Amino acid sequence: MRRTLVLLTAGAVTAAAAVVALSPSANAATTLGAAAAEKGRYFGTAVAAYKLSDSVYSGILNREFTSVTPENEMKWDATEPTQGTFSFGSADTIVNRAIANGQKVRGHALAWHSQQPSWAENLSGTALRNAMVNHVTQVATHYRGKIDSWDVVNEAFADGGSGARRDSNLQRTGNDWIEVAFRTARAADPAAKLCYNDYNTDGQNAKSNAVYAMVRDFKARGVPIDCVGFQSHFNAQSPLPADYQANLQRFADLGLDVQITELDIEGSGATQAATYAAAVRACLAVTRCNGITVWGIRDTDSWRASGTPLLFDGSGNPKPAYAAVLTELGGGTTTPSSPVPSSPSPSSSNPAAGCTATTSVNAWTGGFVVTVKVTAGATALTGWTVGVTVPSGSAVTNTWNATGGASGTFTNAAWNGRVAAGGSTEFGFQGTGGAPAGAPVCTAR
Ligand code: G3I
Repeated sequence: MRRTLVLLTAGAVTAAAAVVALSPSANAATTLGAAAAEKGRYFGTAVAAYKLSDSVYSGILNREFTSVTPENEMKWDATEPTQGTFSFGSADTIVNRAIANGQKVRGHALAWHSQQPSWAENLSGTALRNAMVNHVTQVATHYRGKIDSWDVVNEAFADGGSGARRDSNLQRTGNDWIEVAFRTARAADPAAKLCYNDYNTDGQNAKSNAVYAMVRDFKARGVPIDCVGFQSHFNAQSPLPADYQANLQRFADLGLDVQITELDIEGSGATQAATYAAAVRACLAVTRCNGITVWGIRDTDSWRASGTPLLFDGSGNPKPAYAAVLTELGGGTTTPSSPVPSSPSPSSSNPAAGCTATTSVNAWTGGFVVTVKVTAGATALTGWTVGVTVPSGSAVTNTWNATGGASGTFTNAAWNGRVAAGGSTEFGFQGTGGAPAGAPVCTAR
């Protein structure tokens, strides 16, 4: 009897191990943000306020990203167009929307030689220094408690081999302008991580060496700095450096976070995908590389659109680079050969209907994002409908790759109704309140 029990126990352990072994692939994260979260990191994008009404744009934003950076809306020209008069409308739109969706916000940028209002461009000396301090104080105070990381100072070093500071009106107020900006930001928003952000500092070179020396000095003297941002705008002239990871690591070793802040890589197809994967791999290999931000959503949203440098094409379709990044983050879509093992997400099982649906739920206090996988049975589908139960008090606010949803019933979009026998497609929706619970019901049309 004892021997039988031991054998049964061993069998149970084996079965449990099999389920555990199956779970990671069967439940692999299917969005950039969810996959990065499983690696303890955020995955963000730059956002333009005026594009938020574009449902394709906002659908991808809601679905894929866990951090946002206002692309232009927090810059000095946007937030203080007239000295002493602040204008936060567009930036507030982005920040409030991000917080409602459970996304972090990277603030960009408090002090920068570029995109200054003309009144600041025309100031110098003490008047400019005082204006900068007031600007940092007012903006950081306005967003106090809402910003994960601030680019306090942007692009303050010269290109080339000099290792010098970039000449600018701010630099001409005195070499200490950078540390004054950091101390001012800390006083205004003690909880935000304070970053120095720059480009052409991605590998080890004279410019990054100069930034490194400044950061090391700041750490030694107690100037508040918590992170360094590496913009990472790559193309044929400025390729991903071979020592990218080593460079991120040496900064991290100074005792602060490193972040990839404006990633875009010109190119297309497999070559672009491989470079994106290498950039992500470098960040994942550095423990204190705690997040990646791409500089826009679709190629057409990019500041250099002709180089098609982003993860989604102009129609919002994921490119090979998207799949490469998702895979590198450990995510992806897999079709398990056996039934999906039990998971926190409910799944329907009405094969007579010709399709099944499984859900992956990302919920937080006050909101949720649900990704739904529709799988055809033995017969190809020409259309499908999925019903979920939306709890009382909850509301579906946005749907992508499907239509409907307000009442909990979703129908295929024009392009994804046809699904081969055994094949699958995905759609998603987000909402406010508690997430839908219970099994989704899939019906072939
Ligand atoms: O809003 C006006 C619009 O009213 C006008 O009709 C139009 C005509 O050109 O210009 C619009 O403003 C443009 C703005 O983007 C919004 O689209 C500016 O001209 C244009 O200069 C500005 O470019 C931004 C650039 O920074 C300015 O330096 C890009 O969008 C933005 O992606 C880019 O971002 C920078 C980061 O802040 C720092 N690192 C480099 C990165 C890429 O240059």
